[in-house]
Amino acid sequence: MKFRSPSGKIIRSPKKLSFDFVPDKLPHREDEQQKLFMLFRRVIEDGVSQNVFLQGNVGTGKTASAKRFCMDYEDWAAERERKVDYVFINCRKRSNKSLVLWKIIHKFDKGFPDRGFSVGEMMEIIRRHIKDSGTHLFVVLDEADSLIQRDGPELIFLLSRFDDETIAPRGSLSLILISQKNVLELLDESALSTFKRGNRLLLEQYDKAQLFDILSYRGELALYPGSIEEEELNLLALIAGERGDARLGIELMEKAALLAEEKGQNQIGPEDIRTAKADIDPYMTASRLRGLNENERLILLSAAQKLRNRSFTTTGDLESHYHVLCETYGREVLGHTQFWKYLKSLSGDGMLETETVASGKGRTTKVSLSDIPAGLLEQKLVELIKG
Ligand SMILES: Nc1ncnc2c1ncn2[C@@H]1O[C@H](COP(=O)(O)OP(=O)(O)O)[C@@H](O)[C@H]1O
Ligand SMILES: [Mg+2]
Repeated sequence: MKFRSPSGKIIRSPKKLSFDFVPDKLPHREDEQQKLFMLFRRVIEDGVSQNVFLQGNVGTGKTASAKRFCMDYEDWAAERERKVDYVFINCRKRSNKSLVLWKIIHKFDKGFPDRGFSVGEMMEIIRRHIKDSGTHLFVVLDEADSLIQRDGPELIFLLSRFDDETIAPRGSLSLILISQKNVLELLDESALSTFKRGNRLLLEQYDKAQLFDILSYRGELALYPGSIEEEELNLLALIAGERGDARLGIELMEKAALLAEEKGQNQIGPEDIRTAKADIDPYMTASRLRGLNENERLILLSAAQKLRNRSFTTTGDLESHYHVLCETYGREVLGHTQFWKYLKSLSGDGMLETETVASGKGRTTKVSLSDIPAGLLEQKLVELIKG
């Protein structure tokens, strides 16, 4: 067959939306980067190694922050004519002492055999390399809980005390542990003693406003100018903000962009975002819709119709359109207070999103759909309402 490329053009640089791309800047993580620097500054200035633990939920930028930090620290050290190197290991994939140590050695000896050496021998090889090359080595163990759970805390202990057995004048190896859970709780007394209390950094979940900034920045890097507007960025931030998860936001942006390109658009629309959300992580299932009562269905249908071409509508518009629908379907109209009650219960159930914002006339409540394309929701609801 003849293949057909999508005619829309939105994504300029696909790799800048990929998981392992590390952007130059990490908006809203500047304080954390600075804190890491304050902890590790002494590595170069005083020759003292440090062990640091980075904790946070999915998509809070743990991996990106650690990578960005190592790269920037390497540059900072180079300006001071000191060599720093780092090895980044995801422990979900490589989860025992030998594999982790092999990966560290592999960083400077690409031909190193993957069997035949004991843990002690490999530690010695690393030690010698560090000494000979005059490097300070950062070992980053990402998703460290996997390693500890499968293989115990011994390797953490060995690496975090690396310098104790070295007679070198300056620190040689620093450890960064990353995990969603508090891995310090998984360590035994001796391993724990090598982590100072202040050396734990907690990355809080991003809020909606922060995600907006992050997503507009990532959009600028990866997309053609003008391919996403503020309203649509707001919708993305709203959806990702429910979990404070930058990864979800970027994934949705990419998926929505691909869907829009496929349809021949040069811009991401609200329906593309909702379709992307429904594909990645569907919430509004048929059984949830069937569980709604008649009033809720009509209010939701009103929202679906109002939102066909827009990211947001207001409760005022929603209510007047709801009146029209009641007339169309010959149903009794709810009073204003009752209408609000049902609207609140819909938003409480996550069927639609409401947000009150200050506006010129006082306060307005904005309504949006985040999970399902409005067109599809409309279709399903009409079927249900007609029975
Ligand atoms: N502050 C930020 N600015 C820009 N992109 C970010 C920021 N925080 C996270 N990201 C991006 O979001 C995605 C998820 O971040 P990641 O570091 O993998 O999270 P975690 O490791 O905590 O699950 C990555 O693509 C990352 O580049
Ligand atoms: Mg990660």
